[in-house]
Amino acid sequence: MKTRIEIYKGDITKLKVDAIVNTANTSLLGGGGVDGAIHRAAGYELLDFNRKLDGCATGEAKISPGFKLPAKYIIHTVGPVWNGENNNEEKLLVSCYKNSMKLAVENKIKTIAFPSISTGVYHFPLERATKIAITEVKKFLEKNESIEKVIFVCFDEETYSAYQKMLK
Ligand code: APR
Repeated sequence: MKTRIEIYKGDITKLKVDAIVNTANTSLLGGGGVDGAIHRAAGYELLDFNRKLDGCATGEAKISPGFKLPAKYIIHTVGPVWNGENNNEEKLLVSCYKNSMKLAVENKIKTIAFPSISTGVYHFPLERATKIAITEVKKFLEKNESIEKVIFVCFDEETYSAYQKMLK
């Protein structure tokens, strides 16, 4: 199991994996953070493609080609905005990881990279989000041999050390 999960510090748009996961918003039409970086790197065709997806509900995931990205696919998932666990945020974040992995298996994706969903602009507490990310991915990998590698991509030192601590 250990070898099937990796932590990487850097920019998710640079990774040559089968799929990178985007922390999108419900419109799927771009934004800041990871969303902005992915749309910039993938190019305008991503926006044209996503327009036809008709949005995405929080906790759900939809797939698009990677266009100009080194990754073949982008799995767009919408994380919950944290507001003190009054709206089921934990359950919704669990669904983001579960639905993204399910979509990956359905599309024969073997290597997938996740950013730290909801812990930026959406203010989900980092430790709680990291625990959910690692727990859900481990549970999924135990039941699904087809995914060979999951990479958790951390953009800053704080996130990187949270993942290192939680994975030990
Ligand atoms: N590669 C990897 N990680 C990144 C990158 C990048 N290029 N850019 C930012 N991050 C990190 C952030 O530092 C944070 O740790 O991704 C994590 C998630 O941050 P956000 O991108 O702000 O995502 P989120 O908190 O889920 O908020 C989503 O922000 O950009 C908008 O349209 C997006 O409305 C949506 C909201």
